[in-house]
Amino acid sequence: MSEKLPGMTYHIISCIKDGKGSKETYDEVVDLFGYSNTLKAFRKTYSRLKRQDDFENFFSEMCGPKAFEKSRAEKDKKDKAECFCESLEDCECFSSVGEEIDRGSEFIKIMKKRKIVSGEELCKTLGCTPKEVYELANEFRIRGYEIYCDDKNVILSTDVAVQVDPLKKPLEDREIVFGVMSDLHFGSKSCQITAMNEFAEICRKKGIRDIFVPGDIFAGYGVFPGQQFEVYALSADEQEQSAIVNLPQGFQYYGLGGNHDYSFIKRGGGHNPLVALAAKRPDFHYLGFDEVDVPILPGVSAKLWHPDGGLPYSLSYKLQKAAEQISYNELQIISRSVQQKPTTRFLFAGHLHVQVQALIGPMLCMQCGCFEGQSGYLKKKMLLPTVGGYIVKADLRKKDGLILNFESKFYVFPDDVENDWKNYKHTTEEAKKVSPVFQW
Ligand SMILES: [Fe+2]
Repeated sequence: MSEKLPGMTYHIISCIKDGKGSKETYDEVVDLFGYSNTLKAFRKTYSRLKRQDDFENFFSEMCGPKAFEKSRAEKDKKDKAECFCESLEDCECFSSVGEEIDRGSEFIKIMKKRKIVSGEELCKTLGCTPKEVYELANEFRIRGYEIYCDDKNVILSTDVAVQVDPLKKPLEDREIVFGVMSDLHFGSKSCQITAMNEFAEICRKKGIRDIFVPGDIFAGYGVFPGQQFEVYALSADEQEQSAIVNLPQGFQYYGLGGNHDYSFIKRGGGHNPLVALAAKRPDFHYLGFDEVDVPILPGVSAKLWHPDGGLPYSLSYKLQKAAEQISYNELQIISRSVQQKPTTRFLFAGHLHVQVQALIGPMLCMQCGCFEGQSGYLKKKMLLPTVGGYIVKADLRKKDGLILNFESKFYVFPDDVENDWKNYKHTTEEAKKVSPVFQW
């Protein structure tokens, strides 16, 4: 037997107006009216009533206060007369399915006949609110009718298609996330393998998959006088073994060769250590030497660059000059109709072992620090390197690849670990050896 719950709908509406949430309202309805349905069922009705509740403003705006008052009075009357439902889930006081179907066919019949009808007239004729008229128009538009509403009228066009607003933005922007680790210098006694591993751990936690390495993966040979005293691995083979074993796993590396790597080609009879590394570590992708463009999205590229020369007084100087040159170069390519628009959006520079970043024009330009602590060579020159790496997150606009926003976070490892290389194994043979479970 059906138990009536008089006044409950009004109570819910007043709760909505007071800004009470569905749970709070539900508790009140249970206490005051003995409502016995579930919270989930109640929420459906709460949402429906909440949606209905904003018709007041809409109606006032479209038909004027007088029409609103009349319609509201009719609605109130209807609510008072009918809304005593036992189950709010089944409550159809505000709209019945049959009524909707009749209303819809009546609506389209009128529109087909008259083509242009005022909202106020439709409200009166169909006995519904302006919001319901708007929903009917929308429903029939979805079904393919060229029907739309302006400030006062509902219009059905049977000769021309209604102009719609052009898309203000491309359908999709794209967020990209990646890491940058530069100047690892495997083979150098100052190589900070612990910092590398800690940075890799942060990258893992942040879901980084791709890491760019703009040069000097290896310490090299004979790059400066006395370098042989500053390395733990002298030959190309030894340095490669160390990188194969110690380059953190779990990422795709995109590596450029720098001046230190190049020393093995120059002095080592044409031996390219990056090719050797890529052969043993399939996650390492060899890109070339000095500077290279890496496509990162269609029409968007990152330039990896390993400049030469010393550290200028102004730390950003090389980046600024490079950004200029990249722009001239792209302009020239476009002028020659080789490409239609600039593509470089990122510049990752190695070599200087310091950290600087700046958005220059459309390019996010970075000096990428290093993972080699203060070597004897740098001490003599009174230069302090910045050990650390970047994690970059950027939103790019799909239509032209422009950077819309970016977060570029540089993780610094300020405490040099002296002779950190001694804490690690450096050959695959060594790495394979398993230590005994117990020690003497
Ligand atoms: Fe370097």
